[in-house]
Amino acid sequence: MSTTEELLERRYRVLGRGSPLFYDKPLHLVRGEGVWLWDADGRRYLDAYNNVPHVGHCHPHVVEAISRQAAILNTHTRYLHEGIIAYAERLTSRFDPELSMAMLACTGSEANEIALRMATVCTGHRGIICTKFAYHGNTTAVAQISTVFPPPEGYGPHIRAVTAPDSYRDSRDSGGALSPASWLESIEAACVSLRENGQGVAAMLFDTIFSSEGLPLLTPPYMAEAAAIVRRAGGLYIADEVQPGFGRTGTHFWGYQHYGVVPDIVTMGKPMANGHPVSGVVARRELATEFAAKVMYFNTFGGNPVSCAAANAVLDVIENERLQDNAREVGAYALAGLDQLAAKHDVIGDVRGRGLFFGAELVTDRRSKSPATAETKRVVNAMRDRGILLSRIGVHDNVLKIRPPMPFSKENADLLLSTLDDVLRTL
Ligand SMILES: Cc1ncc(COP(=O)(O)O)c(C=O)c1O
Repeated sequence: MSTTEELLERRYRVLGRGSPLFYDKPLHLVRGEGVWLWDADGRRYLDAYNNVPHVGHCHPHVVEAISRQAAILNTHTRYLHEGIIAYAERLTSRFDPELSMAMLACTGSEANEIALRMATVCTGHRGIICTKFAYHGNTTAVAQISTVFPPPEGYGPHIRAVTAPDSYRDSRDSGGALSPASWLESIEAACVSLRENGQGVAAMLFDTIFSSEGLPLLTPPYMAEAAAIVRRAGGLYIADEVQPGFGRTGTHFWGYQHYGVVPDIVTMGKPMANGHPVSGVVARRELATEFAAKVMYFNTFGGNPVSCAAANAVLDVIENERLQDNAREVGAYALAGLDQLAAKHDVIGDVRGRGLFFGAELVTDRRSKSPATAETKRVVNAMRDRGILLSRIGVHDNVLKIRPPMPFSKENADLLLSTLDDVLRTL
């Protein structure tokens, strides 16, 4: 077996240096179990970052479901199979009643691609409103709204990226930001400008926890008002649940449910099958029906029997192990612990999050709120060196991103917090 250094060199040679890796010292992982990961040297890490292994790394119930179905049959979706129907029924039953039809695909990017096409085909308009510093995926159409990595080809005339609403900063603070009320004004302005340039408004598409934008907490009624503005302009509300979905935010199963407005289309991905590539779109019946009548959409791997067995097993575990309740309880506990750290460390300017998706915004000065970007990077690397995995997000890359697998316990939170306390003391 190659050493970590050799593997890194081989990777650069064959995958190139553009293929991103986490941390100054990249990790070479060989095994996972629950909330734990092991590297090639046998060192154990607490995973406080990964949402793909939603119910825990290598959960035996999911592993068993995948291997059982793989040994029986795996085909595509052009044959009748109980698995996809049962899963789609179970998935849609988790939504508000008007969101009653499903489509399955393989990646979050594909799910958002379907949602954009559905919005365009069903409204007859082209304009899409998204946020700055958002990430929604990697296809040509979706890259146009993944504004955190501006597309080299530039933005089309149908794209309007608005600054995300901010619960911590406003326009007077260092780095500037939009209050929720100003955010609504910018959505209104985007609708006007899309109508004026002839694109019309097809949809607004937002990550319902604004993950990449830095986890700003938006409270009701702002999302409902944004949706109303867009709907008045003839557009739809698309909710991207790739990061917050499947109970992660604790009090609700879906991120959009925090806002008191039901979307027209919801997209899902990452946590859906614990690492097996499954994604989905759930939409209002009339939209899904019209789309199907106008577009022949077929996805070879999407919704195959093995994928559906994996996705179904994930729902079993969420329910049997009461993981949404765990996210609510442990998330509140960890957030309170972060608040206590904020009382000790001036570098923590703000603490926020929902359930098992939370973070701390680091600043060099609490009054001006100037972002502690370099310090945040140092904290993430120092935590990794001490065996805790997390990351950073936000417009200024200064928000610690903590989003562990759902079985994360209070004991795990204690280890995370005491290590962070230590790291911040020596910053
Ligand atoms: C909010 C959000 N939407 C969509 C995607 C795209 O998902 P995928 O990488 O599975 O294509 C991501 C991936 O990070 C994401 O975070």
